[in-house]
Amino acid sequence: MSTEKQAWESHPNIFLSNWRNDTIKLVKGKGFYQWDLNGTKYIDSCSGAVNASLGYGREDMAEVLKNQALELGYLTRFTSVPPILDECSTRLAEYTGMDRFFLTSGGSEAVEMAVRIAKAYWVHEGYPTKNKIMSRWLSYHGNTYATACFGGNLARKNDLSAYAFDEGHIHAPTCYHCPFGKKPGECNFECANELEDALINKGPNNYAAFLMEPIGGTTTAAMTPPVGYVQRIREICDKYNILIIADEVLAGFGRAGKPLSMDWYGIKPDICSIAKCMSGGYFPVGAAAVSQKVSDVFKRVGHYYAGFTWAGNPLACAVTIETMNIMERENMMENINVQGDYLMEELIKMRDRHPIIGDVRGHGLLIGVELVKDHATRTCLPNEQMALMKLMRNGYANQVVLEAASGKMKNGVEGEAFILAPYFGVTRSEIDELLGKLDKIFSDTEAQLDFN
Ligand SMILES: Cc1ncc(COP(=O)(O)O)c(C=O)c1O
Repeated sequence: MSTEKQAWESHPNIFLSNWRNDTIKLVKGKGFYQWDLNGTKYIDSCSGAVNASLGYGREDMAEVLKNQALELGYLTRFTSVPPILDECSTRLAEYTGMDRFFLTSGGSEAVEMAVRIAKAYWVHEGYPTKNKIMSRWLSYHGNTYATACFGGNLARKNDLSAYAFDEGHIHAPTCYHCPFGKKPGECNFECANELEDALINKGPNNYAAFLMEPIGGTTTAAMTPPVGYVQRIREICDKYNILIIADEVLAGFGRAGKPLSMDWYGIKPDICSIAKCMSGGYFPVGAAAVSQKVSDVFKRVGHYYAGFTWAGNPLACAVTIETMNIMERENMMENINVQGDYLMEELIKMRDRHPIIGDVRGHGLLIGVELVKDHATRTCLPNEQMALMKLMRNGYANQVVLEAASGKMKNGVEGEAFILAPYFGVTRSEIDELLGKLDKIFSDTEAQLDFN
């Protein structure tokens, strides 16, 4: 029996991914660190799935969860709106600048709701044919049927005969491997202009919204568009009456150093999805958030009939409020930017002695590192060398948990990268410890690869 099959059978109740690690059983966490069953300590360089942003083992959060469970652990919004949901939404509005919130249990549901709200918006505005969603290749928007179809990472939708339903995709701004052969600073935002072409060809009257990750996540490892890209997208969407849905599930809520990653570009989305860092990793929660322009339409209609059993439950609200309290109390937004800038600068310096390091990109504590064969020519390491898999394994061997980005950065065909996303309270000495380990992990991986 192959080792793959043996592993599958020794975990009888779960579906396994080939990204798993079969040898390490992590059972405990504190702050930046996790421990396995044998007591070996690991650095969590990626905050779980880029969501455990407050660090592990916080007593204040445990207290909040316990108190809320004792007070009122559950209430359905169809019986009575819990006051804590009002408080949570008001705090979210102050924090994000969005107007109203539909709480969910995670990111996929948040994107689904964002899309459904966009479609309902146009029905109420008297344009029921405006019901398709344009999105981008090399994107991830979730694991439900619809969000997987909107996503543009073929590796993550191989059970959907690649496309299932496809309402339209355009290129992502993968500047390091520009699909139009342009150099940053010398382009005319061809990848954004492609949206205009696609809308003209498919008919803007058929489109409700353009869905994008303003800063990339698990597919493109913090792909960061050039200044001007998001502005150009806004112009096109305004010209053709299309809403912008920003998927902020991964990059939002402080991860990229701003409440929303769109804030880097000075543009507010019409609708956005948030999740991950919204609860610091202490409870499953997400939300679809709408701007005043969108909420005005629903106020006029007076209701929106949709729900999930766990939407807006008091435990999720209490944890979300406490997450914002902790971030404020501990001045985390400043720390995210200070430590993130330092981590990025040091990685760029490290590139001088590590041929495997290509592009280093991102904002705040969301940093992507692309692996290359030749930095000068941006040549990718061939897929068969499995550089990313080797790097991940060397990470475990050096007691560092790393997060792989599963997209192939160059046209979806080749080009591998990983994400660094430490918790928001990370200290300078913890970053230095991580950098020391990364230095060794890069060397160990380079020794296993062919750079000729
Ligand atoms: C940008 C983005 N959108 C949506 C999702 C889906 O979120 P969840 O896994 O909480 O359903 C993710 C998860 O990684 C994500 O990164």
